[in-house]
Amino acid sequence: MWDPKQYLAFDDHRARPFFDLIDRVRADRPRRVVDLGCGPGNLTVTLGERWPGAEIEASDASPEMVAAARARGIEAELEDVRDWRPRADTDVVVSNAVLQWVPGHQDLLVRWAGELPAGAWIAFQVPGNFDAPSHLAIRELAGTTAWRERLAAANLLEPRAVLDPVGYAGLLTAAGCAVDAWETTYLQRLTGPDPVLEWVTGTALTPVRELLDAAEWAEFRAELAPMLTAAYPPQPDGTTWLPFRRVFVVARTAG
Ligand SMILES: C[S@@+](CC[C@H](N)C(=O)[O-])C[C@H]1O[C@@H](n2cnc3c(N)ncnc32)[C@H](O)[C@@H]1O
Repeated sequence: MWDPKQYLAFDDHRARPFFDLIDRVRADRPRRVVDLGCGPGNLTVTLGERWPGAEIEASDASPEMVAAARARGIEAELEDVRDWRPRADTDVVVSNAVLQWVPGHQDLLVRWAGELPAGAWIAFQVPGNFDAPSHLAIRELAGTTAWRERLAAANLLEPRAVLDPVGYAGLLTAAGCAVDAWETTYLQRLTGPDPVLEWVTGTALTPVRELLDAAEWAEFRAELAPMLTAAYPPQPDGTTWLPFRRVFVVARTAG
C-alpha cells in the first residue's frame, strides 16, 4: 500500500529528478500531457503550470495516491500503466519513478512509441540503485529464515528491474525515436533518526508492508534499522549521505 504522506516526507529529493527530466522535454504547445503513475499529484500540478494550454491527464494504480492527487485538484484516474492507451492528441507522456515497478515495461515503451503521434515526447526516470546497500539489506533481511516465507510474494526490486541508459536508448532508437538518455547519482543529504529507513519506507518497502500485519511490520523495520545505519553511518553533524543513482530517458517519436 502506498502512503502519500510517507512518500512526500522527502519531497525535495524526490522532486528534483522530475524537474531534471522535464527540463529536457522541449515541447512548445502540447495538446495533451499525460502523467502515468502520478502519485500524490504534487508534480502533476507543475506540468499544468509548465504547459497551461494542455489538457492534463493523470493516472495511478494506487487508490490512496489517486485520492491524494484528486485532493490537489488533479482529475486522476485509477489505472494500471499497462492498460493505458494514448489518445490521438497525446503530445507528452511523463512517467517519473514508476516503470521500475512494471516488469516488461520495455514492451510498453515500444508500443507507446508506435501508438503516439509523430513528434510526441516520452519522458521517464527510473531508479538505478537496486544493487545499492539499502536494497541489498532489504533483500538480505527478507531472505532470512524468519521472513522468507512471509515475504515470498513481495516484489522486491532487483537490478534487472531496469535497463541502463544505453539499454533504453537502443530500445527506443530501434522503435524509431530520437533519444536523449543519461544517468545521475544524486548525493542526498538526509537527517533525523533512521533517515534511510524512513526513505525506503516511502518506496522500496511498500511491497513488504503490504504483506505484513502491524506487529510484523514494526519488527521488520526494527531489524532493518541497524543494517541501514551500518551501511549509511551518520556523520558527527547528524548528516546521513545517501547516494542515489537514477536513469533518465527522453525520447521523441519520428516525424
Ligand atoms: C515512487 S512513486 C512516483 C510518483 C510520482 N510519479 C512522483 O514522481 O512523485 C511510484 C508510483 O507508481 C505507482 N505505480 C506502481 N506501479 C504502477 C502501475 N503498474 N501502474 C500505475 N501506477 C503504478 C505507485 O502507485 C506510485 O504512486
